[in-house]
Amino acid sequence: MEEETAKSAHVLLLPYPLLGHINPLLQFADRLASHGFRATIVAPIRSRGDFRKADPSALASVNLEFFSDGHDNGFPLDLSLKAQDSNFSRVGSRAVGDLIDRLTLEGARPVCLIYNSFLPWALDVAHHHGILGVTFLTQPCAVCTIYIRYIRGFPVLPKEPDGCVAIPGLPLLGLRDLPSFITQTEGDPYHLELLSGQFKNIDQADYVLVNSFDSLEAEVRREMAEPWSPKLIGPALPSVYIGSRNPRASKTSDEQGKPTDCLHWLDDRSAGSVVYVSFGSLAALSPEQMEEVAGALRWCKWPFLWVVRLPFANQKGGNALPQGFIEATSEQGLVVPWCPQLDVLVHRAVGCFVTHCGWNSTLEGLTQGVPMIAIPQWSDQPTNSKLVSDVWKLGVRAEADETEVVRRGELERCIREFR
Ligand code: UDX
Repeated sequence: MEEETAKSAHVLLLPYPLLGHINPLLQFADRLASHGFRATIVAPIRSRGDFRKADPSALASVNLEFFSDGHDNGFPLDLSLKAQDSNFSRVGSRAVGDLIDRLTLEGARPVCLIYNSFLPWALDVAHHHGILGVTFLTQPCAVCTIYIRYIRGFPVLPKEPDGCVAIPGLPLLGLRDLPSFITQTEGDPYHLELLSGQFKNIDQADYVLVNSFDSLEAEVRREMAEPWSPKLIGPALPSVYIGSRNPRASKTSDEQGKPTDCLHWLDDRSAGSVVYVSFGSLAALSPEQMEEVAGALRWCKWPFLWVVRLPFANQKGGNALPQGFIEATSEQGLVVPWCPQLDVLVHRAVGCFVTHCGWNSTLEGLTQGVPMIAIPQWSDQPTNSKLVSDVWKLGVRAEADETEVVRRGELERCIREFR
């Protein structure tokens, strides 16, 4: 009976409004819904575009509540990330609180608020309204552990620039393996503030959830556990792509009911022949790095599917393809602005994945058993790459030169390992 009551409970979820954070929380909400919970996601109107790119079947199982944070069409270019987040915390606190009150009046009072750990203010909103506050960490335990040690004043940087640091539960880490916000002093200092801020009130959270799983991070999870007991609820992916239900190699895209041009294009390629290239939803590559990736793909003549995302307004000059590349490679490969990534990774034609190693892409690549060639850009990606190559041995990291660019010869060498 108690279980029955718990299962009809209403759960409110608050993502950080970026696709890489919306996706895992949406998948977790979908899982709750499939267990009989009522799940409502609350988000600012400006993130609607990201929801349109998210998994439609998960969206169908949850309720969405959008609110205006005063910037429905996006923030002005000159507004810093810190100012954006502080606006979101001010307006979001009120909007989420009002929503809890409204749902309570409607007889649908939520029992808890599950919030992205980048939004620690949400815990106060939950507790102020007398419901449980549950923090949801979208990055792996390994990365969380490094930040926690950093905040607690333990050494996380090697003593010498070419030395290594020993962190319990992790392989020896060089400077290039650590989260970029810790190692790089240039850039917006707010990034480190934001990432460290995840842990500022975590002691008061009623539960701590991490998008990872025990068999992947058992040892480092134990390190992270003190003094909380994090629950590893990942991988937060559609259930059809996990474990024995994984459709890789047994289904074509059409059978999954989501045919798109790039999936049809893959249907006509032989098994394991295609290099899939994508750098996630945020990063924009420099013209020089684009030249090198294009050069590696073009001259080696492998079939390729390359996602070249349109850059954001503040990423002028990013993600620019070399002139004439599309025409010159039209028989060989396909360039698209976006694709259904999981369906692509599942496709039998895909032989390897050139990735920035964002945590979602990493989980997607490893659950689908696609070898990864890592070209990390920033944030947690260097650490994720290290785990992929040295711990889980599911791929390799392509080495950048002294100008931080991965050259075509190096990329070609890495791809050859898997094709
Ligand atoms: C950001 C950070 O860069 C990442 O390191 C952090 O862990 C989460 O937030 P992002 O750049 O968005 O991530 O990369 P990633 O975490 O890999 O998430 C991208 C998501 O977009 C994945 O779920 C991927 O499947 C999806 N995607 C990407 C598509 O569906 N289609 C595409 O064409 C490209």
